[in-house]
Order: sequence, then structure tokens, then C-alpha cells
Amino acid sequence: MKILGTVQETKQEIRAWKKAGLSVGLVPTMGFLHEGHLSLIQRAKKENDKVVVSIFVNPTQFGKGEDLESYPRDLEKDAQLCEAEGVDLIFHPTPEEMYPTGFHTYVNVETLSETLCGKSRPTHFRGVCTVVSKLFHIAAPDRAYFGQKDAQQLAIVKRMVRDLDFDVEVIGCPIIRESDGLAKSSRNTYLNEEQRRAATVLHRALLYGETLLRQGQRDVTQLEREIRAQIEKEPLAQIDYVQIVDALSMQPVPKVEEEILVALAVRIGNTRLIDNLMFTTEN
Ligand code: PAF
Repeated sequence: MKILGTVQETKQEIRAWKKAGLSVGLVPTMGFLHEGHLSLIQRAKKENDKVVVSIFVNPTQFGKGEDLESYPRDLEKDAQLCEAEGVDLIFHPTPEEMYPTGFHTYVNVETLSETLCGKSRPTHFRGVCTVVSKLFHIAAPDRAYFGQKDAQQLAIVKRMVRDLDFDVEVIGCPIIRESDGLAKSSRNTYLNEEQRRAATVLHRALLYGETLLRQGQRDVTQLEREIRAQIEKEPLAQIDYVQIVDALSMQPVPKVEEEILVALAVRIGNTRLIDNLMFTTEN
């Protein structure tokens, strides 16, 4: 397994594979890999001849006062995990390599980026789309793998690929959870013991929402109210949003129809956690 830090070397290596007719799967990450990332890598291994993992804590997707500096990093451990999974190449650039002096170009997917997390993090998805566009150009993947935990990110990247004619298949992979239901996230490491216990309220609230949906509740206001009430039972939890949106457009819906996303963002202490549930009315 190679670890490369420059765009040029990485392009060279990958272009040689492509010339030899090999397919490439890309798993974009910010590192501090957990089982969620590993599930993406394993799927990429099954479906491609070569697998590239990018590890880059992307400054443009962090807002002012967010956790860019404190975001957990451990390249050595990440490299061991990637090696064990049979990854072929880690692309680990510096911020200067990705954003050299004079960088002025950003990719923004409008409308989809303005709801849910886009409301409290107004420049976040612009940063994600910009870095993912660059990664797609650098790695020229046939397939790219993203977790469903970041459902809005996944919907936005899919829309960007469609709108800008990127030649890559974007594949969403299921949320991987701890045994008590907490969705795996690098940010879970910020939680102390008491907060970690409190954080399970996100999944419990979603399960409650799912039960109501399965029982036939279709009134969005009522569903959102009931899910909120579950979260409010946990004193350490502060709701950023509880919202039901159309699963493709990420826009609020008045009524549950076809495929919807129940999305949550909740602060436990200073840690902002997200989780979600997809529901299709044929269910
Ligand atoms: O989901 C993430 O870890 C990041 O948003 C991504 C897709 C790697 C872009 O920096």
C-alpha cells in the first residue's frame, strides 16, 4: 500500500492503473477511521480492482468556531487499518496541496444544501462539494462510497455528479452502529462517559419515529413533535433540528409520501451528532 501526499503523484499512479484497464473505487474520508469507514472500504474492495482511500481533514467544510483544529487525527492507525483491508493507495494531502495560494473556485449545490445541516452550517456543503469534486478529478474513480449517516451529504454529492456530468457511480452504504444503537462517528470520541450514554437518545428517538410510521402515522408535524419529545426527555440533549424531508430533494414535506428522510441533529455537550432514518411508504 502506498501513501501519497501530492496530487501529481496520485494522478500518475491511478492513471497507470486505468491505462491497464483496472477499475478504481474511492472512499473519501477525513481519517480517524472506524467500522463505518471500514464497511465502505470492504464494499469498494468487492466491487473494484483497486481501492483508494483519501484521508484529508478538509478545512473548507468547517465553519468558524467549529472543530477543525481538534478534529481527531491518527494517520498511523488509519494506515494500519487500510493495509489490513487491502487498500492500494492512501491519498493524504496537506491543506496547501489541496488549496494552494490563490485558490478561488468552489462548487455549490443549491437548494439541497440549504436545509437541515445547511441551515446551521451554511458553508459546509460547499466545502464538501469542492473537495469531493477535486478528489473525483484526482482519483478518477469508477465508483465512490459514502455513508448513509451523512444522508444530506450523500444526496448532494449524487446531485452534483448528475448535474455536472461526473463519470462516477456514487454508492451509499448503510449506517454502522454501536451495539447500543449510536451511529459510528469519529466525533463520538469527544463524548465523556455520561454524554456517551446520553447520545443513545438519537437512535431511540428514530426508532420511536419508525414505530409511528409503521403504525401509519403520516402527519409530519405530529411525527416531528413526537420525536422531539423523545429527545427532550434526555437532559444533556439540545436539539438543533428534527425534520422530515423528501429523500431526494432534502426539502420539507407536509405529509409522509413515497421516500422520506427523518433527520436529526442534536448537541450532547459541545458535540453535534447527526443520525437519520429512511422510510418508504410501500414498507
Ligand atoms: O464525510 C466525510 O468524511 C467528508 O465530508 C468527506 C466526504 C470525506 C469530504 O471531506
